[in-house]
Amino acid sequence: MSTIILNGSPKGENGNSEIFIKHFISGMKSRCEIRYIIKEDHKILAQYVKDFDTIIFVLPLYIHSMPGVTMRFIEYLEPAEPSENKSIGFILQGGFPESNQYKYAEKYFGSLSKELNRTYLGTVIKGNSAGVYMMPSFMTKKLFKSLKELGEIYEQTHSFDKTIIEDFKEPHELKGFELAKMKFAAKLGLNKVFWNKFLKENGAYDKNFDRPFV
Ligand SMILES: Cc1cc2nc3c(=O)[nH]c(=O)nc-3n(C[C@H](O)[C@H](O)[C@H](O)COP(=O)(O)O)c2cc1C
Repeated sequence: MSTIILNGSPKGENGNSEIFIKHFISGMKSRCEIRYIIKEDHKILAQYVKDFDTIIFVLPLYIHSMPGVTMRFIEYLEPAEPSENKSIGFILQGGFPESNQYKYAEKYFGSLSKELNRTYLGTVIKGNSAGVYMMPSFMTKKLFKSLKELGEIYEQTHSFDKTIIEDFKEPHELKGFELAKMKFAAKLGLNKVFWNKFLKENGAYDKNFDRPFV
């Protein structure tokens, strides 16, 4: 069974999706081909992936959906023949901690799989991941171990492990003490510290409230 992994982030090899891929394949015995949507001619890549038994997208959540570059690529994908028994899966990571925020994208991926006549392996959702690239190892240890296991189990069974999927989805929704903590941090502006730093580094902080489409 052949598998191709598609990195759907505009940051390509420099993003968090890449870190997810690295750990997902780290325990596999055979190598999967990895391609970067941002680097490719979309029409040619869509033709190329047709022959693979399984396509796995690893991508970030951007504006409750997916990066535009991935969306554009998906437009070029063609349905498999129903008799071919091909499959497709998604590993979606993002900044929001609540997995409920990812359900619109998840629903779309389910419908897309049907349209492409590919068996839907599911969507692995992992929130709270925007800082993965800079987190100290004690904070990422469990995540990386689970991603490795997810990859190993995928290689053996050609499916995504349901226990890991459910574990990653926590919390579905912030409640009680966790919600109060988040509200308090928001009041103090702590939730925007990294975002503002990022804007400043890119000379975009002063454009915070621009409305270019108005
Ligand atoms: C333009 C943009 C939009 C984003 N929108 C969301 C969002 O709607 N929900 C979310 O949880 N995270 C959002 N994020 C955070 C990314 O999903 C998160 O940083 C992710 O780890 C980036 O992965 P990458 O480095 O592979 O691109 C957004 C980030 C950017 C840059």
